[in-house]
Amino acid sequence: MSPIRTGIIGMGGFAAWHHNTIARLEERGLARLICTCDPQAAGFVTEQQTWRLADRGVAVFPDYKTMLAACHRDLDLLVVPTPINLHAEMHRAGVELGIPVYLEKPPTLDHLELEEMIIRDRLARRSSLVGFNFIIEKPRLALKQRLLAGEFGAPLGASLMALWPRPADYFRRNNWAGRLMMDGRVVLDSCMGNALAHFVHNMLFWLGGTELFSWAQIAGVRAELYRAHAIEGADTFFVEADTAGGATLRFALSHACAGQGQHCETVECERAQIKYIVGQQAEVRWRDGRVERIALEGFDGLHDNHLEYHRYLRGETDRPATTLADSRPFVVLNDLAHVSGEHIAPFPAALLTGLRDEKEQKDYFNVAGMQRAVEAFIAQGAWPGPAGWGRAPGATATPADLPRFRDTVRAMLAAR
Ligand SMILES: NC(=O)c1ccc[n+]([C@@H]2O[C@H](COP(=O)([O-])OP(=O)(O)OC[C@H]3O[C@@H](n4cnc5c(N)ncnc54)[C@H](O)[C@@H]3O)[C@@H](O)[C@H]2O)c1
Repeated sequence: MSPIRTGIIGMGGFAAWHHNTIARLEERGLARLICTCDPQAAGFVTEQQTWRLADRGVAVFPDYKTMLAACHRDLDLLVVPTPINLHAEMHRAGVELGIPVYLEKPPTLDHLELEEMIIRDRLARRSSLVGFNFIIEKPRLALKQRLLAGEFGAPLGASLMALWPRPADYFRRNNWAGRLMMDGRVVLDSCMGNALAHFVHNMLFWLGGTELFSWAQIAGVRAELYRAHAIEGADTFFVEADTAGGATLRFALSHACAGQGQHCETVECERAQIKYIVGQQAEVRWRDGRVERIALEGFDGLHDNHLEYHRYLRGETDRPATTLADSRPFVVLNDLAHVSGEHIAPFPAALLTGLRDEKEQKDYFNVAGMQRAVEAFIAQGAWPGPAGWGRAPGATATPADLPRFRDTVRAMLAAR
């Protein structure tokens, strides 16, 4: 079996994780890094030494266009783990040369740009992969198979809570964090669009159609968006979505919190409730009182996703875990959450506390009553806005409202 010849755009941030992963796969003869680039390549001298790029014969370029012009004939795969607003142009550069792309999630956060990328992807020798980490987890796939076989009864709805504290300097780590737009184009970086996007995409996967690899289509979305941090976008989302299949999905996501992070995916079916906590465990709670516990061990997200994509590139499987077209429900849901939310409300000052973590030397925000608000929303659909957070829930936005998306984002920016 010949190694998958790989190019990686970028060296810092999550691109470094891809470098580490490809180096491990290269040691086993499964991959070979041909080339990489970064406009700040000189700033990554230590990393380049750690990865032994010179010894491995890896060509290093200052920009991706020069890299692809020089190396495209030698590449089976291009990895794009760069700022979200650069994904479309870098994906385009790869697929126009026929090279399939491992594109970090989210592919883009603009539904119109996504449609262009879906069409362009046909130029590649094989479909590109969008790197949502958790779709290929074996216990997840096994539970979805059982759900599709009808073992748990019909799915009635689902909910997601994800409270991931992020300090103020998280939003200063690069020039696009928390931005709504840059250079007149949509960026829309947020907890929903970026760090917690995996979980939202997972929820759509649970509620998909009759195929294993299917995601629920969105019929309507209501949302309340908030911010605590000094950013353009939202750092807290309360969202209720109706799927085309008639299920209701509720999720509450936030980076405006402190202490221990927590997340949980819940799927309510006629005969059982599935609770899935990535990195910890899954449970099937049967309505008759039985509880089945499933360990979630031994999953190495990036490593396993690369290997799985290799299998597809080698023709051993018939599809990547998530294609660009599979990402459509996620991007539409994210865009309609903004259309419905209409504006991003600041948290009432009386509820907001700044907290200094002396050990980490970092500053967090805490919103009084966040946990209670999340629980009331998920259990009863009680919106936090009218209950004290000082805004009204957004009206239902449907896919017919997508043409209002870009104007909504511009208005959010103007109101900032
Ligand atoms: N799958 C995951 O678990 C996971 C985790 C973190 C981030 N991500 C995703 O990875 C992507 C990158 O996020 P990040 O926070 O690492 O971003 P980042 O801003 O830190 O950038 C990553 C790299 O891109 C490089 N870069 C920027 N402009 C470039 C250019 N013009 N040409 C070549 N390289 C360029 C940067 O120098 C950096 O090395 C995003 O899509 C993010 O959502 C995924």
